[in-house]
Amino acid sequence: MSTLKLVLVASGLLFMIFAGGKSVSDSNRDDHQLSPSFYDETCPRVSSIVRKIVRRVQYKTHPRTISSLARLHFHDCFVNGCDGSILLDNTEKIESEKEALPNKNSLRGVEIIDEIKTAVEKACPATVSCADILAMAAAHSVCLSGGPSWRVRLGRRDSRIANRSGANVAIPMGFDTLDVLKSKFSAVGLNHTIDLVSLSGAHTFGRAQCGIILPRLYNFSNTGVPDPMLNPSFLPRLRRVCPRDGNGTTLANQDPTTPDTFDNNYFTVLKAKKGLLTSDQVLYSTPGADTIEIVNKFSASQTTFFKSFAQSMIKMGNISPLTGTHGEIRLNCRRVN
Ligand code: HEM
Ligand SMILES: *[C@@H]1O[C@H](CO)[C@@H](O)[C@H](O)[C@H]1NC(C)=O
Ligand SMILES: *[C@@H]1O[C@H](CO)[C@@H](O)[C@H](O)[C@H]1NC(C)=O
Ligand SMILES: *[C@@H]1O[C@H](CO)[C@@H](O)[C@H](O)[C@H]1NC(C)=O
Ligand SMILES: *[C@@H]1O[C@H](CO)[C@@H](O)[C@H](O)[C@H]1NC(C)=O
Repeated sequence: MSTLKLVLVASGLLFMIFAGGKSVSDSNRDDHQLSPSFYDETCPRVSSIVRKIVRRVQYKTHPRTISSLARLHFHDCFVNGCDGSILLDNTEKIESEKEALPNKNSLRGVEIIDEIKTAVEKACPATVSCADILAMAAAHSVCLSGGPSWRVRLGRRDSRIANRSGANVAIPMGFDTLDVLKSKFSAVGLNHTIDLVSLSGAHTFGRAQCGIILPRLYNFSNTGVPDPMLNPSFLPRLRRVCPRDGNGTTLANQDPTTPDTFDNNYFTVLKAKKGLLTSDQVLYSTPGADTIEIVNKFSASQTTFFKSFAQSMIKMGNISPLTGTHGEIRLNCRRVN
């Protein structure tokens, strides 16, 4: 085991000890029909099955690979609600969301969900939805990387449709302005200030492809110069990672200092004007924005950030779920039954 991995595990354990082993308070939220105890009778071990596989992947491959699971849940929830629609492959009837612009060539971690689904089907056949697996996998990826834990609300069912055109318009893009980010969050019922800043904090781990930031580094909006929002002293380092004529698929750390740890360093990075994506830096660098004071608050207190992140993740997980007799429990997350 590498030192890095040891540090990750130790910091995760420490957080749990300081938090008294309890999850962050999240009681004052509207939970719709979802409930943390949904599978208590039908599949009591489901959360530990999911956690075990996420942890195995974290050790077996690279720590960064599990961050992709948090992104999958986010991209699922922003299109027709958290209904597993993102996981459907192309067929004659289905235009996969995986090929929508925000997902194409950048969606990672789908194979991990397949692996989890196989294990869960073995333990509890035809019981646990792919949408719920995404929500649990996202939570475990955050927690196992040193972030907060929360009681994941369950009981979602899976869609029989995908919505590629919806994915193209609803999912935020790395070059979006603050106004566009705000309207996309409001469109799904999230708060365009507190939820936007909290959830953007997920960029404290994981990677982004150079292709997205090349214009910022070399020719911002065709002005011939780099993005003025980017700290000039940070530019040479980013340019080494992402050369002008390099391969746009090279991955850059979203958090330059603690790239694989879920912490509040993302907000300190924004204050130093070292945010990787335009959509990160606008939270702090848009003049007069109401998001600035939240960045300051989260940068000053990791506890405050963790509490708010957990609440916002629960809220995001509640976006128009299919429940009751709507939808289905897919047997294979990649196709409808
Ligand atoms: C606020 C609007 C957001 C925008 C514009 C945005 C955009 C992006 C982009 C462009 C990437 C890089 C993808 C690539 O090049 O491979 C990325 C990565 C990532 N995003 Fe976001 N994102 C946003 C919010 C979120 C939220 C709400 C979450 C989760 C709660 C999230 C989690 C992640 C993670 C974990 C990665 C790294 C994935 C990996 O390494 O595989 N993002 N995001
Ligand atoms: C697809 O998503 C868009 C954007 O969220 C939404 O307006 C539209 O109603 C969705 N279409 C279907 C068929 O669900
Ligand atoms: C969003 O959250 C902020 C800060 O918590 C709050 O002041 C504001 O009223 C909320 N806005 C909406 C539309 O709920
Ligand atoms: C920036 O992009 C514009 C438009 O594509 C181009 O005309 C210009 O030469 C570029 N400038 C630099 C310095 O690359
Ligand atoms: C960039 O790298 C990817 C993955 O290593 C490779 O498949 C692709 O062909 C490369 N593209 C270029 C233009 O070198």
